[in-house]
Amino acid sequence: MISDRPYLQNWRPIYELSSAVVWLSAMNIAHTLSFFSSLPPIGFILTSSFCAAMTITRLAQAIPRWQQHRRLKGKKLTLLKLTRKQCQSLQTKNQEQGVWLGWGFEWQRLHGQRAWDLLRSDNLPAKSEKTMGAGWIHGMEEHEERLYQPLEQIQMHTMVIGVPGSGKTRLFDLLVTQAVLRNEPVIIIDPKGDHDLASHTLRSCELSSNKYRFMKFHPGFPADSIRINLLQNFNRSSELASRISGLMPSSGDNAPFQAFAQKAVDAVVQGYLLCGQRPTLVMIRQGLEGGVTKLLIKALTIVCTRHNTQAPNTAQGKEAKGKSNIEAVARRWIEFYREKVMPESPCTDVEGLISLFEHDRAHYSKMIATLLPALGMLTGGPLARLLSPDPTDIDDLRPCTDTVNLIEQNKVMYFGLDSLSDPMVGKAIGQLLLADLAAVAGDRYNYSSKDSQQDDKPINLFVDEAAEVLCPQLLSLLNKGRGAKFRLYVATQTLADFEAQLGSEAAAQQFIDNCNHLICLRTQNPDTQKFITDKLPPVRYRYFIRNQGISTDANRPMEFTGNLSEQQLEETGDLFPPQLLGELPNLEYVARLGGGRLLKGRIPILCAPKF
Ligand SMILES: Nc1ncnc2c1ncn2[C@@H]1O[C@H](COP(=O)(O)OP(=O)(O)O)[C@@H](O)[C@H]1O
Ligand SMILES: [Mg+2]
Repeated sequence: MISDRPYLQNWRPIYELSSAVVWLSAMNIAHTLSFFSSLPPIGFILTSSFCAAMTITRLAQAIPRWQQHRRLKGKKLTLLKLTRKQCQSLQTKNQEQGVWLGWGFEWQRLHGQRAWDLLRSDNLPAKSEKTMGAGWIHGMEEHEERLYQPLEQIQMHTMVIGVPGSGKTRLFDLLVTQAVLRNEPVIIIDPKGDHDLASHTLRSCELSSNKYRFMKFHPGFPADSIRINLLQNFNRSSELASRISGLMPSSGDNAPFQAFAQKAVDAVVQGYLLCGQRPTLVMIRQGLEGGVTKLLIKALTIVCTRHNTQAPNTAQGKEAKGKSNIEAVARRWIEFYREKVMPESPCTDVEGLISLFEHDRAHYSKMIATLLPALGMLTGGPLARLLSPDPTDIDDLRPCTDTVNLIEQNKVMYFGLDSLSDPMVGKAIGQLLLADLAAVAGDRYNYSSKDSQQDDKPINLFVDEAAEVLCPQLLSLLNKGRGAKFRLYVATQTLADFEAQLGSEAAAQQFIDNCNHLICLRTQNPDTQKFITDKLPPVRYRYFIRNQGISTDANRPMEFTGNLSEQQLEETGDLFPPQLLGELPNLEYVARLGGGRLLKGRIPILCAPKF
């Protein structure tokens, strides 16, 4: 059934304008004739007044239509130089209304109808070369306003999708700036290392009057980078082994090697922990590459002494016999442990090391051959001191920290991973960082104290080009991060990237389903377009069909009959036509927010203010 709502043809020519011109001409003629005619002027005055009134009426009808047509040209990019005053107002608005998402409007059936009409018409406006899209999409609404997303909503994680150059990083820029102004901890993982994003983040810290909140990690600029131990946080020590073995290429044939490497790393990690040392990547590499003998002796000394304080003396006596051979010493310790300690108080932590020590050397070397290159790239050159810092090294003045510290000190941490220069290293660092953060999230979730103010602060985690660092830990952060007050923003180019990285559509779907909010910039991938619009409710669009006919009777050829009819019909269509997502100009988006809001918006480009 066709509804009774009035239907105005949206994109017809502006007939009112022609009519206004005719009335204006009539008014002029009447006015001019009054000078030359001998008739009483009152008739001319009345006629020209009537014409003037009609001109104004028609103009009043024409102007909104003209403006509607003009809006089809689209909006220019807006460059915004945030000043301190604007920052303060942004801070207040964030508390009152939520996160500012630029300007735009809520896309409703009316806008869908306008777009539908325009797509059916012959005169579709030309695309802008500059913004690479159809500016007319944003012109479907007369009045754009500032768009806000309530703060309580953003805990549900947001996914940003868009082709390169569509504005993902500029959107991150806007969101990061607001998170900094809200005085919350911010962590940015930027695989590409966008220079503007880093400098704008520093600028927003300066604008919020604390530039020391900003910290930067960048393998390409080790001198300006902080040092961080990405193995600092874990809930169970076995996590470290899975994190490191996760860096190995995970093809089907590689599974036994990965399992062995995991066991070996676990044994080394347990050994270090037994000796009271926090393992770093360099230490683990040394343990795996250079052999575990020294570590084993140290660990056994501790375990055996714990059981029997006389153990070192007993073992020392034995050691004396094979002083020069460290291997022999280790064997004697193992013997002592097996004879005296294991029967009464076995220590599984040290047994892993013993089995690694006793393993056939040639086989061992083959089995960890694929792990060592992965570990080697994170422990070579300047990365050695960046990722395996020694806090006691007083010659190194670069700050040394870990993720818990960053969060507790309310820092704004920018991780540029330099993936363009070395994608393998970038990916490995990103994955270790996400794994560390997942451990922190698990910790916060399990043990957060209600009294601690710091625990109450949400952590804003931004992952740009997420497909580059995709790993199970990112999925678990998306799954469970909300309980630990992690707000995730994940940006990607297409959803197919996730499928390619995770290996199956189901896994990719699971990943995406964890994000309640989707912000879609220009995207060309048809599956991604459908994914965004499919979940929107279908709407009914109206249109007219005109029938015209002339007929004659063969017996009376001079007689014609004609008919003209108009029919109004309705058809079901998409609230937002999916193909239009491929035509969005740079920095324009369609957002499908949790709660059913569909926004059409555009974001500003933030640039450095001049004070
Ligand atoms: N300062 C600026 N002035 C004008 N245009 C800019 C400026 N900064 C970025 N842009 C434009 O904004 C678009 C979005 O850039 P960006 O957010 O880096 O894209 P993405 O991260 O999606 O690859 C690009 O097309 C770029 O040309
Ligand atoms: Mg980018």
